[in-house]
Amino acid sequence: MISDKGLREIDRAVAKYPAGRQKSAVMAALAIAQCEQGWLSPELMQFIANHLKMPAIAVQEIATFYTMYETAPVGQYKITLCTNLSCQLGGAEEAAKYLKQKLGINFGETTPDGKFTLKKGECFGACGDAPVMLLNNHQMQSFMNREKIDQWLEELSK
Ligand code: FES
Repeated sequence: MISDKGLREIDRAVAKYPAGRQKSAVMAALAIAQCEQGWLSPELMQFIANHLKMPAIAVQEIATFYTMYETAPVGQYKITLCTNLSCQLGGAEEAAKYLKQKLGINFGETTPDGKFTLKKGECFGACGDAPVMLLNNHQMQSFMNREKIDQWLEELSK
């Protein structure tokens, strides 16, 4: 279900809170589990709920509220494009069109080879770097014009 290493990371997150408040670590636990497994299956969410001694529905509420959590399988590389105002003014619409064309998918879809998933995202707090994209929730890509998108996708496709 989750590796010993993942479980140790979750327990380290739990230890940051007072005794009996282990459910405060639920967001960290979900992020750790998703990093390891790629997405949050119902079984994985149930496991986290049991581990943190909280109702499974409360874990699902968190997982389905925040856009960085995936409750269905995604591709190896999840590209999230910021579609908020500053990025829109900085070329996000053009970047989105180009990405969709290059990958042959729309937002919310995964390429048939399971390599890329494309998602819309909310402001990442790096508006001056527009247009901005995130790779697998962690790696930020700035000033993503056509040329940079080409280079980036080529690197990821190797
Ligand atoms: S609007 Fe895109 S990072 Fe802020």
